[in-house]
Amino acid sequence: MKTSLTILQLFICQALLLRSLVKADPDPLQDYCVADTNSLFFINGAPCINPKSVVSSHFATSALAKPGKTSGNPFGFNVTLTTTANLPGLNTMGLTLARVDIASNGLVPLHSHPRASEVTICLNGVLLVGFVDTSSRLFTQLLRAGESFVFPRGLIHFLYNLDSSKPALAMSGLSSQNPGAQIASVAVFTSKPSIPDEILKKAFQISGQDVSKIRRNLGG
Ligand SMILES: *[C@@H]1O[C@H](CO)[C@@H](O)[C@H](O)[C@H]1NC(C)=O
Repeated sequence: MKTSLTILQLFICQALLLRSLVKADPDPLQDYCVADTNSLFFINGAPCINPKSVVSSHFATSALAKPGKTSGNPFGFNVTLTTTANLPGLNTMGLTLARVDIASNGLVPLHSHPRASEVTICLNGVLLVGFVDTSSRLFTQLLRAGESFVFPRGLIHFLYNLDSSKPALAMSGLSSQNPGAQIASVAVFTSKPSIPDEILKKAFQISGQDVSKIRRNLGG
């Protein structure tokens, strides 16, 4: 029996593997599956309430109507998200909407969403936005009110309010109901338990004092 795989077989295996890795949220099997926020089941997504009990308000929310407070945040931003709790009709739609308030010269620091691409529209202010691709190429754009930008799924990106006197406002649509967010600096320097200093010293080519200082600055 021949045990080695042909090049073609390997190629097909790899293509299938890649396809499953880049899948979006699963397609809904129903018109809607309004989240039962009281359910005790742990499943992928949220269980649905009886469709007969569904009303228009399940598809509406005012969760993004009010600005988030940016004063308590060291970077000067606040993100408010739609969730299956504040917008139950969102369940299984593969979508999230985010309100992003950014103080004057505030920053949404380098972060990534493991499960979603993001399209953002600047509604107020002047934003410098950008992302870095997997070959370390940086793409940036200056956004004024009404202008949009796309951050590809999983890539590290930022939004910076260039205005030193006025707050900025952006709204983002994300292609998952659970996009996830990892702030690079916070994940690396304030994880619990901590990543060993030796690892961070080598990874960032810095000293032990540098590691401690960054940890302290980030509240870790
Ligand atoms: C974001 O804003 C909300 C509403 O003002 C506030 O309750 C929350 O604590 C803020 N989050 C952070 C991280 O500052």
